Amino acid sequence: MDISTSLCGVKLKNPIVLASGILGTNAAILERVAISGAGAVTLKSIGPVERQANNNPSVLAWEHGLINAVGLPSSGYKHYNWEGYDKLSCPLIVSIYGSTVEEYVEVAKALSSKGKILEINISCPNKHDGMSFCLNIDAATEVVKSVKKVVHVPVFVKLSPNVPNIGLLAAEVERAGADGITAVNTLGPGMIIDIEAKRPILAYKTGGLSGPGIKPIAIKCVYDIYKAVKVPIIGTGGITTGRDAIEMLMAGATAVGVGSAVYYHGMDVFKKMADEMQEWMKMNKYKSLKELIGAAHE
Ligand code: DHB
Repeated sequence: MDISTSLCGVKLKNPIVLASGILGTNAAILERVAISGAGAVTLKSIGPVERQANNNPSVLAWEHGLINAVGLPSSGYKHYNWEGYDKLSCPLIVSIYGSTVEEYVEVAKALSSKGKILEINISCPNKHDGMSFCLNIDAATEVVKSVKKVVHVPVFVKLSPNVPNIGLLAAEVERAGADGITAVNTLGPGMIIDIEAKRPILAYKTGGLSGPGIKPIAIKCVYDIYKAVKVPIIGTGGITTGRDAIEMLMAGATAVGVGSAVYYHGMDVFKKMADEMQEWMKMNKYKSLKELIGAAHE
């Protein structure tokens, strides 16, 4: 069964997208993900200058997902190694971050032609100013307007679930020119304390939550965003099975982001999810993804 989809004219053989931050650090690994069946892959966010990772432990599994404070490590866009990316066998989404509008614009200008879609990460919980653009509608719209002026590929904006009204934020970001929304980034920050050691386990103390435990929040966010905008949504947050992906499409997503699921199921998760989706659709007599997208709103 055909489960291909399209994000602003970019064709995906299936709607399952490797989310930013997982495996997205070089072309060889991303090509393995593509071969494993992903419809598209997203890079780990690239910033304006070199930035070191946080100390370990920086990722930890808890009962219902992962918590991480990797720290947005980056070589900086000027030193990024683009070797092999031209041979990638599925569309590439380039993710970027900055601390000022000028930095977003600088990185966007330099990198937008490297991928089919540019994703701007305005919602990282692990940097003191990482969420400032997402938590303020004026700041979010300013960064989108400025980035849109300098790039020629579709611009997706990655939003945090930690906002009072994500539908309103998405609508304003759309009005500012965003071509799509990626929702959601990790939830939090949260904290896990080792009671024997009497201290937080992560070296950074706090981190963003992902995985199955945040899925109902991600579904609700996408449901609200779908009501508020016309642009496509990459629904991300705790999607681990084909059934989860279908649920996310029914909330209103056009594609689904998959991150923590790779920790649970390995690289095979992409093909497995696509197979599960097709089987479920066949069994329930759905013929195309179009019938699923937003179906929970009817
Ligand atoms: C990091 C960045 C994110 O956007 C996120 O959601 C979680 C972690 C990081 O690199 O620390």
